[in-house]
Amino acid sequence: MPKTLIEPFRIKSIEPIRMTTRAERERLLEEARLNVFKLRAEDVLIDWLTDSGTGAMSAHQWAAIMEGDESYAGARSFFRLEKVIQDITGMPHFVPTHQGRAAEKVLFTAVCKKGDLVPNNCHFDTTRGNLEYLGVEAVDLVVPEGLQPATIAPFKGNIDLDRVEAVLQKEGARIPFGMLTVTNNTGGGQPVSMANIRAYAALLRKYGKPFIMDVCRFAENAMFIKMRESGYENTSVRDIAREMFSYADGATMSAKKDGMVNIGGFIVLRSDEWLDEVRSDLIMMEGFPTYGGMAGRDLEALAVGLQEGLDEDYLRYRLRTAEYLGEKLEAAGVGFVKPTGGHAVYIDARTVLPDMPVQHYPAWALCNALYLEGGIRGVEIGSVMFGKRLGDGTETYHSMELVRLAFPRRMYTQSHFDYAAEVIAEVKQKAAGIRGVKITKQPRFLRHFTCECAWV
Ligand code: F0G
Repeated sequence: MPKTLIEPFRIKSIEPIRMTTRAERERLLEEARLNVFKLRAEDVLIDWLTDSGTGAMSAHQWAAIMEGDESYAGARSFFRLEKVIQDITGMPHFVPTHQGRAAEKVLFTAVCKKGDLVPNNCHFDTTRGNLEYLGVEAVDLVVPEGLQPATIAPFKGNIDLDRVEAVLQKEGARIPFGMLTVTNNTGGGQPVSMANIRAYAALLRKYGKPFIMDVCRFAENAMFIKMRESGYENTSVRDIAREMFSYADGATMSAKKDGMVNIGGFIVLRSDEWLDEVRSDLIMMEGFPTYGGMAGRDLEALAVGLQEGLDEDYLRYRLRTAEYLGEKLEAAGVGFVKPTGGHAVYIDARTVLPDMPVQHYPAWALCNALYLEGGIRGVEIGSVMFGKRLGDGTETYHSMELVRLAFPRRMYTQSHFDYAAEVIAEVKQKAAGIRGVKITKQPRFLRHFTCECAWV
């Protein structure tokens, strides 16, 4: 058998991407105030800003779009998607939203109150934002190795059960439910083991707390379980996913990831206890319960996408692409979060720019350098994203300086990855010439999206 794992699809419709010259990119980045979020996408050659809503839909999904029933109430498309979701999750109640953060907002508004506390392995920033907005404390309790980029372990997304139990004992009265993010995006796209899911669920049950999973990347997590957790080698990913869901009382989903669609999300719930409250919030915030925040055609595309996202040939190829880029970075002496996660590779900027002071934002600098060198756009996960300028003008900094390269699904081929690996190796060679930045203008919240910078 040949060893090369090929893309398990062929291309039917293409979208041209445009090469730019280095001189053009220098001008474009200056115009964008040294913030790649402000670039026009058409000026980017390889766009690895996010894997969210950016993937390619299949011919089957595009065909399903024509079947969309746009009725306000009781659309056929709702019932078709409901059945698919009930089959995959085993949960009877499905509430559609326009994307993941809307699912969070609707559920949290219905269930949480000021002063509450929610444990998670790591909250994604919108999850944390939605909780904090309601006055709820969001506590991250990932296992210690989940915060060590160079440590190799199979399930670095696991939640630390000892610390969870301590929090349940001490703060039990404040906890409306426990959460778990699969895979753990903020912690490097690392998976959670079935053993950890099962034990966490049992712990929550012992203290009478419901268990809510954030399942944006549940299919990738299920494939990691198949590949890494003993006892699951011969279980289908579909059955693994079903078992994962079987331990939970509900879930929030951004369908823009493993749902293989450009927009969409949902909540699923096992019991109807919260359902009336959730549905009234949904009507206020998103729409009528049979479409939520989605068009009928989007419900159709998702009904097909969820099934395609569980295809094992696709998932094997998907996880292999990240691993493949990781091998090339290893050969080039570039450090990254190991092992590579499901949807992205997280470069450790300190291994490329060891001498750059954190005040010059090394991960942001590396992000800019990747664009200048090869037209690649990633996202900084470092002190611009997580640091703060305090009232007295002093700055706080993040513990890690990472650049995330997140891969849209079914979009880039192996030669795009080869090209990117060459660009990154080249940037590492020329690291001495990479300039740091200072922030010249910033908003109060989520500053990385809109801040303006200048070279130091
Ligand atoms: N939860 C996780 C784990 C996520 O990664 C995201 C989005 C959300 C919730 C929110 O979903 O975007 O549909 O509202 N992550 C994207 C990213 C934006 O780039 O990682 P959304």
